[in-house]
Amino acid sequence: MKRTLVAGQFGTDKNQIYLDNYERLFSDIQNEKITLLELGIFRGESLLLWENYFSQGTIIGVDIHASGVANKSSRIFEFEGYQQDTDFLDTVAREAAPEGFDIIIDDASHIGDISKITFWHLFDNHLKPGGIYVIEDWRTGYWDKWVDGARYKKAKESNIIRPCIYECAEKCLNFTKTNLKGGRMKQTIVSCLGKVKKASYKNRFPSHDFGMVGFVKELVDELGIDMITSPERGSTVPQQQPRFKRMEIGPGQVFIIKSDDSELSGMIR
Ligand SMILES: C[S@@+](CC[C@H](N)C(=O)[O-])C[C@H]1O[C@@H](n2cnc3c(N)ncnc32)[C@H](O)[C@@H]1O
Repeated sequence: MKRTLVAGQFGTDKNQIYLDNYERLFSDIQNEKITLLELGIFRGESLLLWENYFSQGTIIGVDIHASGVANKSSRIFEFEGYQQDTDFLDTVAREAAPEGFDIIIDDASHIGDISKITFWHLFDNHLKPGGIYVIEDWRTGYWDKWVDGARYKKAKESNIIRPCIYECAEKCLNFTKTNLKGGRMKQTIVSCLGKVKKASYKNRFPSHDFGMVGFVKELVDELGIDMITSPERGSTVPQQQPRFKRMEIGPGQVFIIKSDDSELSGMIR
């Protein structure tokens, strides 16, 4: 039987855009024996939603305070503890999902440093290959009043000066090549101007990097890890393959699909 996710169902505050995204990703596995971990239980409404949606799923919640909804179902389990306590997370995984989680949703602290510890620990140790990790409400990093957020300020652009330097170096280079007679002096000037021109291309794009926003932007580097560690690109460490198969960022949610077994095999991590 096909069930759909509807905002307000069981009292959850997850909006319809969030739920439509979940539906798109989860509908194929709706009737399978999945194991779902949600960090952040609050009143347990989302645990009831998942229990109803995944007809054969085991639903596990983690929060500083349990809600008591586990008493209403034999398929819901609650654990009390902090999401950043990695020993506690190992205990939860050992007791509730020794073979790993299929889906992990982080809807707990929404604090960058804390979510980062949780993410890498659960992703590396307890999310199944091919599993899905969701980070909710990453845009708290734009909120000035949020504990690690800050109001968005457009970063100062260095792009205005760079094209000028480039253009100037290019003109001087052309002038030197056509007007100076060959010799050591000409060679040195051409080489220097060439270096200035090249350096003017190496541009950084500074961007907002507070709290969850900074954490999410950092994750993008994982998709380039094979380039970062490529011996052909000058890396001295063994080359690694991305642990992410795919990363999708929406307004409020980030979805990360873990690489599957064949992609992960041979990785030294
Ligand atoms: C937004 S609510 C969760 C709502 C729930 N997922 C839902 O959709 O109905 C956030 C919850 O995270 C919990 N929380 C905050 N910081 C936490 C931490 N460091 N470790 C574990 N839980 C935490 C809070 O106690 C709160 O119940």
